[in-house]
Amino acid sequence: MPSAPCPTPKIMISLQNIEKVYRTSTIETLALNNINLDIKKGEFVSIMGPSGCGKSTLLNVMGLLDEPSSGTVQLDGQPVMKYTDKELAKLRNQKIGFIFQSFHLINDLTVLDNVEIPLLYRSTNGKPRQEYAKEALAKVGLSNRMKHFPKQLSGGQKQRVAIARAIVGNPDIILADEPTGNLDSAMGNEIMTILQDLNKEGATIVMVTHDEQMAKRTHRLIRLFDGTQVL
Ligand SMILES: Nc1ncnc2c1ncn2[C@@H]1O[C@H](COP(=O)(O)OP(=O)(O)OP(=O)(O)O)[C@@H](O)[C@H]1O
Ligand SMILES: [Mg+2]
Repeated sequence: MPSAPCPTPKIMISLQNIEKVYRTSTIETLALNNINLDIKKGEFVSIMGPSGCGKSTLLNVMGLLDEPSSGTVQLDGQPVMKYTDKELAKLRNQKIGFIFQSFHLINDLTVLDNVEIPLLYRSTNGKPRQEYAKEALAKVGLSNRMKHFPKQLSGGQKQRVAIARAIVGNPDIILADEPTGNLDSAMGNEIMTILQDLNKEGATIVMVTHDEQMAKRTHRLIRLFDGTQVL
């Protein structure tokens, strides 16, 4: 029997003619210059390039944290340019998990409370909220640190808490800005393995990195130079 043709993979993130200009009173910076990029559902893509070339700006535009000066963004087929701020915040909360180089945990909250935060915005009730947060922490191997505070954790553990917080709401997309940048290579490798596992489970991941070895473990590498895609 002939095998069925492979269905065309869905595009999860689509950027068309994206420009981002930052203006201050003295200087104008073209941070992104005519970026056209499609990221398929289930892809794991890395972004590399020199400091200041626009990597974080690109990730923030994909993640609806920053509005492009021109061009269009579509997430899972939804034309987000037409959305109000409130609609954008809702979509971001439901579809996207962010991971940052410097973890961005809240120091006064326990590990468990930190991981619950995205669910607070969704008004998930207390009991299921805690259960989901515990599940996310189990996934990153931190069930034994739930009552700790961030300052009682190592860098790698903090980043695993940040990953648990990013995945607690089951987002389709994970955006990671140098997630291993502040970690030694053993911890960096551990974080990378967790991201690869999440990708195998179906998450679409875009990761900024300065590390060629980390980039090699992803499906595709995008290189930026002065706001322009060069690969
Ligand atoms: N809020 C802002 N206001 C003005 N200029 C900005 C702003 N954010 C970024 N820029 C400028 O835009 C350019 C791209 O910055 P971006 O943070 O995206 O770089 P990056 O590639 O992530 O660098 P790094 O590797 O150092 O994190 C830089 O020249 C930066 O100075
Ligand atoms: Mg950056």
